[in-house]
Amino acid sequence: MKYSSTLLSALILASQSYTALGTFTIAAADSSTGQVGASGSSCVSGSLYTVAYHSIPNHGLCMTQGSPPANPDWDPDVTEPSPVYGVIDAMLANDTDPSIIIDSITNPKLDDERFMFAFKSVNYRQYGCVDLKGRAAGYTGKDLAKLYAIMTFGKENVQEDVQGTIGDIVYSAQGNIVSKTTVTTLQSTFVSDGACDLVERLYNSLAAVFESQELIGDIRCFDDNNAAGSSVFIHVDNADGSEVISIQNRDPNTSVNPWEEFKGEYEAWREDNPCPAAQDVNTAVSR
Ligand SMILES: *[C@@H]1O[C@H](CO)[C@@H](O)[C@H](O)[C@H]1NC(C)=O
Ligand SMILES: *[C@@H]1O[C@H](CO)[C@@H](O)[C@H](O)[C@H]1NC(C)=O
Repeated sequence: MKYSSTLLSALILASQSYTALGTFTIAAADSSTGQVGASGSSCVSGSLYTVAYHSIPNHGLCMTQGSPPANPDWDPDVTEPSPVYGVIDAMLANDTDPSIIIDSITNPKLDDERFMFAFKSVNYRQYGCVDLKGRAAGYTGKDLAKLYAIMTFGKENVQEDVQGTIGDIVYSAQGNIVSKTTVTTLQSTFVSDGACDLVERLYNSLAAVFESQELIGDIRCFDDNNAAGSSVFIHVDNADGSEVISIQNRDPNTSVNPWEEFKGEYEAWREDNPCPAAQDVNTAVSR
């Protein structure tokens, strides 16, 4: 009893002082076009894209979420980025298998960050990596569920990651502090028929969560803005590093539902960047 109440107060304190960034994202790499990208959302007021998205165009992409490693890019209290980010960049650049990238960055010898002196940060992280060689791997820290059970006072939420392929595209979908069907909704939408390109698959996955009849997504937003999340993004790069699409809300507010504005910006982008003709899509599918 004594131990668990100490643990409880430590975790509550930790959850306030430490970036606990629940998130759902789907990352993908399309070897037929050389494009890599992701979409996702989280109930936070900062930019999820800035925190979570780490890619080397023409190679691959890793999402860093849950409690991501320290990084001055988004945390003014730290001066040096965690060595995890350098390893991700170097290993994506030299085409290391994503499962080896994940093994390397979850090695406590590399990631020895702690919070409240006692808790191993690596157990609160979540990663999803994909590459243009058609490989994917994920990681969900084993103590995330315990932390969130305390933060949410026992409201049901899940932490999981799934990987797969559809044609020439490999993906990794992951969520933490999300409702039960969030990650499966991302995944099943991503692989379903009807999308003309990688951007549309990524957008449709996010839309399926935000437009679900039943409220799903990052459960922390359900009472705040009655939506799946507050910070939302989609980003895809070409093999040469040029941006295909990059849309995010730059000043998210957890009490504002971002979806209609985001959707409007996506639809405007799509008008300027139309799908290939239906004929081409059919040819691509039956290839
Ligand atoms: C890829 O980069 C990592 C990290 O710098 C390094 O440890 C590894 O040996 C490299 N692999 C190859 C095949 O160059
Ligand atoms: C967030 O939105 C709410 C409701 O619109 C508003 O009252 C509040 O001032 C906003 N907060 C920030 C930091 O903009």
